[in-house]
Amino acid sequence: MITAPLFAPLSVRGITLANRVVMSPMTRGFSPDGLPGPDVASYYRRRAEGETGLIITEGVGIDHPSALGEAGLGENSIPMLTGPESVEAWRLVTDAVHASGGVIFPQLWHMGPMKEANTGPVPAAAPMRPSGLWGPRGGLTSLDAGYLDRVQPATRPMTDEEIADVIAAYRRSASYAKNAGFDGIALHGGHGYLVDSFLWSETNQRTDAWGKDLVARSRFAAEVVREIRAEIGETMPISFRFSQWKQQDFKARLASTPEELEQILAPLADAGVDIFEASTRYFNRPEFAGSDMNLAGWAKKVTGKLSMTVGGIGINKGYYDSMAGAETVAQPDLTPLLDRFMRNEFDLVGVGRSLLHDANWTRRARLGEPFLGFNTDSLARLI
Ligand SMILES: Cc1cc2nc3c(=O)[nH]c(=O)nc-3n(C[C@H](O)[C@H](O)[C@H](O)COP(=O)(O)O)c2cc1C
Repeated sequence: MITAPLFAPLSVRGITLANRVVMSPMTRGFSPDGLPGPDVASYYRRRAEGETGLIITEGVGIDHPSALGEAGLGENSIPMLTGPESVEAWRLVTDAVHASGGVIFPQLWHMGPMKEANTGPVPAAAPMRPSGLWGPRGGLTSLDAGYLDRVQPATRPMTDEEIADVIAAYRRSASYAKNAGFDGIALHGGHGYLVDSFLWSETNQRTDAWGKDLVARSRFAAEVVREIRAEIGETMPISFRFSQWKQQDFKARLASTPEELEQILAPLADAGVDIFEASTRYFNRPEFAGSDMNLAGWAKKVTGKLSMTVGGIGINKGYYDSMAGAETVAQPDLTPLLDRFMRNEFDLVGVGRSLLHDANWTRRARLGEPFLGFNTDSLARLI
C-alpha cells in the first residue's frame, strides 16, 4: 500500500505541516490543577518524534469559571489556559514538540450545558447554556442516568453580558496560547459543548440575534473566531471542530442538506477559520443522500477551506463501540482512506485512538509497518 500521498507537506497561513496526519484531540486528565507537567510534554513530544504532522491537544479549558466540570471526567486534572502559570506550563509542551520538529495547536474548550453543578475548578460556577437547556432526554447517549438526572433541569438562559464575557475569555486564552508558543488555535465547536450548543436548535431556542435562525445560531461561533483572529493575527491558523452528533444524542444532526451545512459554516469561514475538522465516528460514511462524500468532503466543498476527516482510521471499530468494550483490531488497509484523499475530498487525516496507543503510528503508516491497534489500557497511562 502506497501511503506517500499522505506525506506531502501542507502550508496554511504562516506554518508548514510536514504531512497530513493529525493527532485528533483527546482528553486525558493528567494535568493536576489544570497544569500540564513534564509527563504531558513527553507524551506530545513522542507523537512529534513519531512524525505526526500536526498535534491537536486534548480539550483545554478556557479562562472562564464554568469552562470545565463533569464528575468523573478528570477531576480538576484537565489542563487549562488561564494565565501566566499555565502559559509557563504549556511552554514546556510546545518547546518539547518543536524540538522534535512538530507543530501543535491547543483545543480551546468550554463545556457549556455539560458543566455539572459543584464540579470542576470553580464548583459554584453556573453552566452556560444559550437557552438554559441541556438538551432533550431520551437521545442515544453513553452518559449515565445519574448524570442525566443532575444536568437535566433547565437553568437560566445566558444573558448578553454573559455571552460577551465568554467570548472575551476565548480571546484571552488564545492570547495565552500564543504566548505559550502554540502554532495555531483549534476550537472545540462540536459534541454538544458550548459552541455547539449555540449551533444546535435543540439547545438554542433563542429568538434574538444569537438564535433566531440557522445563520443566527452560527453567530456565537463566528464571534469567537473573529475575536481569536483579531488576537493572534494573520499568520497563525485557526481550525474549527464541528459535529452532527452530540453527546446528548449520537443521532442528532445540525444540517440535513449541503445547503444547510453551507449556511452554518460560511460565517465561520468568513470570520477566519482555515481548517474545518468534521468529527465523525467513521470517516467512510456518506453524509448526505445522493453522494458518497463524507462530512469533511462537504465542509471543504461548501466553504472552499481545508478540511480534516476523522473516525476509525487504522482501527476497525468506532470510538463509542471501543469505549464500551468492543474488541478492536488494527485496520492495516488504508486504501479506502487514500482513495478519498486522492479524490481531494479532504486535506488532513485525524487519528485518535490509534495514536493514543502508539506514538509511532504515523511513521508506521509511512513505512507500511503493521499497526498496533488499540485497547482501553492505554487510557490509564500516558504512553
Ligand atoms: C480518550 C478520548 C478522549 C477524547 N477527547 C476529545 C476531546 O477532548 N475533544 C474532542 O474534540 N474529541 C475528543 N475525542 C474524540 C477524538 O478526537 C476522535 O474524534 C475520535 O476518537 C474518533 O477518532 P478515532 O476513531 O481515530 O479514535 C476523544 C476520544 C478519545 C478516545
